[in-house]
Amino acid sequence: MKRTARTRLGLKFITTTGAIALAVGLAGCASGSTAPAGDGGSGEAADDLTVGVAMPTETSERWINDGQAVKSQLEEAGYGVDLQYANDDIPTQQQQIEQMVTKGADILIIASIDGTALASQLEAAAAKGIPVIAYDRLINGTENVDFYVTFDNYEVGVQQATSLLQGLGYMDAEGKDTGLKDKKIIELFAGSPDDNNTAFFFNGAMDTLKPFLEDGRLTVGSGQTSMDQVATLRWDGATAQKRMEDLLTSTYGGGSKPLHGVLAPYDGISRGIITALQNAGYGENIEAGLPIVSGQDAEIASVKLINDGVQFATIFKDTRKLATEAVKAAEAYAEGGEPEANDTETYDNGVKVVPSYLLESDIVVADNIQSLLIDSEYWTAEEVAAGVAE
Ligand code: GAL
Repeated sequence: MKRTARTRLGLKFITTTGAIALAVGLAGCASGSTAPAGDGGSGEAADDLTVGVAMPTETSERWINDGQAVKSQLEEAGYGVDLQYANDDIPTQQQQIEQMVTKGADILIIASIDGTALASQLEAAAAKGIPVIAYDRLINGTENVDFYVTFDNYEVGVQQATSLLQGLGYMDAEGKDTGLKDKKIIELFAGSPDDNNTAFFFNGAMDTLKPFLEDGRLTVGSGQTSMDQVATLRWDGATAQKRMEDLLTSTYGGGSKPLHGVLAPYDGISRGIITALQNAGYGENIEAGLPIVSGQDAEIASVKLINDGVQFATIFKDTRKLATEAVKAAEAYAEGGEPEANDTETYDNGVKVVPSYLLESDIVVADNIQSLLIDSEYWTAEEVAAGVAE
């Protein structure tokens, strides 16, 4: 007989409250009568279980894809799904999670807006024995996060900087130094400071750029290199565009001085930067003098720009695979077990190291849009040509 989320609740109670609870929890498991949450019972099917899925925002296409992929894969496996988007508003997300807990969600999958703002909601979830899976972004400052599914976020940052260096001619396709001696000017952007991923991306990128900054081949024109100078609250494209405009005014004579590349950590930010650069007259595309700009997420608008030679690169993180890992983790809990981690060292949330499953990502440039994105049916050729998802 399968152990259910309900029996898992007893087990969770045990692990967090010690030996006396152990006896109580096991008694609960055996009798099936003391489960603190969920409407399932011993031997129940997946469709008696509801998974609450909290996503940050619908303004970014990747989260729409993530939400859809998680929902459809959970429904296929027979679970009920309560999917909520929070408009990038922290109180909204807190409230949505509170409601999921109150309404009796059996498992939670959460992509947080602010990784440190959910401690009290997750305490309520823990009190009801609800397993919590952090999705893509780690949830910090709480012991009540059980598992983390994500990509190798440091490596994503390495890939972002690698793509920038390739576009600038310093690295070849294999990531080897080409020996190019030219001196070039760049600017740096990072993501939202409240997102745990931001520092991983930035550190991976900076470690990769470091030798080129140190030997003087690269210079950050504005001198702005610290996180508080380069971060972009809520990953907002308009905020990035504004900062790029300000940099162009303060450092580049409004667009009359050379700027060769911009490290951008996410496609929405990349497009804001590109708009500012084009408005300042750097050229409509790379061939016409537009600086090399990196990205992340393979959003369709950016994939079109890459295809058109405007944005240089993005990082493809297959949201379908991430959804599959989240669903696998949920199923492991539903069956009373633990999901399988492939990293138990990297993701310390300040209270504990959260066992994680890390996926790999790929650099996308114009030449491999077909093999990485179209052949895998992530986007169709028509979508790439139009720059719009169907
Ligand atoms: C990060 C995520 C990125 C990107 C960004 C902006 O947490 O890992 O892939 O989506 O948020 O939404």
